[in-house]
Amino acid sequence: MPSPDARLLRACRGLPVDATPVWFMRQAGRYLPEYRALRARHGFLEMATTPEIAAEVTLQPVRRLGVDAAILFADILLPLPAMGAPIHFADGEGPVIDRPVRDAAAVEAMRVADPGDLGYVGETLRLVAADLPAGVALIGFAGAPFTLASYLIEGGRSESFARTKLLMWNEPGLFRLLMEKLAATTAAYLAMQIAAGAQAVQLFDSWAGCLAPGDYEAHVLPHSRAVFEAVRAAGVPAIHFAADGAGLLPLLAKAGGDVLGVDWRISLSRARELAGGVPLQGNLDPAVLLADPGAVLAATDRVLAEARGGPHLFNTGHGLTPETPVDTVRRVVDRVHEASAGRKPGWTGGRGRA
Ligand code: CP3
Repeated sequence: MPSPDARLLRACRGLPVDATPVWFMRQAGRYLPEYRALRARHGFLEMATTPEIAAEVTLQPVRRLGVDAAILFADILLPLPAMGAPIHFADGEGPVIDRPVRDAAAVEAMRVADPGDLGYVGETLRLVAADLPAGVALIGFAGAPFTLASYLIEGGRSESFARTKLLMWNEPGLFRLLMEKLAATTAAYLAMQIAAGAQAVQLFDSWAGCLAPGDYEAHVLPHSRAVFEAVRAAGVPAIHFAADGAGLLPLLAKAGGDVLGVDWRISLSRARELAGGVPLQGNLDPAVLLADPGAVLAATDRVLAEARGGPHLFNTGHGLTPETPVDTVRRVVDRVHEASAGRKPGWTGGRGRA
């Protein structure tokens, strides 16, 4: 059963820890042979929406790696169908929104999702919580309003986010209405996850890094802040992550979250200066995990060194890729725990492996 005193939860609160907690974005997925074995028999959405399968996939990396957290196996786009926008995943193409949302009629037709329609996610969390080793934290997550809006407007993956930006600039009232519906959906969805056992939540603003700081502040920040205020009321720590967000760090910190996730394009020491002392998560380049063992350990040690002087959750700066060697990931987990344990006199030991 999850413990409220897990190392990762202590780090989120800025409390002393016996070793640096570590987990990875996309720690469940195609680099794991046991994931590929299940995936050969089931579609991705079927896996994410079937609680028994999603719970098993959530636990796979916990068993294998000795990480300090399990992250719910789901996808940031799952609330969209519950808002009236069906999605599908095409092999090699990534996510696709069946009917992109680009005009007033489409925005007005979107509804705030009833979290009951996402009850399978709550069920997954309850199954995972019942099976989780002591000391391993359970993390829930959602997409931030801007990243979800960009998928809805673009219809899928985009390089330039041109349609999203044009709607934001040309029809700010309509854009705001869409963002408000997304923020309300996300707040209720995360509250449901917390009630089902999530002990911390991460908000993924994967594409916010495409924005100028002034546009982020005017059109995005208030909606992310609304989500963080709702999570704060629920009483669990929130992690705020934007890929390629170095130029936005002070504004991301202002929007909210107890922990700021950063990628490898900025050092953690510099990020700490910009973000003003908030606990940091990151920031190993996931591509390093494909390098020779010596380079992987050197990069891991560098992240730990740059994180010194403040609370830190070790992670990659973006999701693990399908090519990642599993043994390398496990070596990084061990290195983080060993190198950080006993850093501060009086703090000893390690959690040990289940
Ligand atoms: O981190 C975890 O282990 C938890 C599960 C998780 C997934 N997606 C599983 C997944 C999480 C937290 C996400 C978040 C997510 N989904 C984000 C935010 C993080 C980021 O990458 O910036 C985004 C943008 C999405 C949307 C999405 N879903 C994309 C772009 C893709 C990739 C498509 C592809 O084929 O590579 C997905 C699919 C997806 N989500 C997979 C997994 C394991 C691969 C699906 C498969 O097995 O084919």
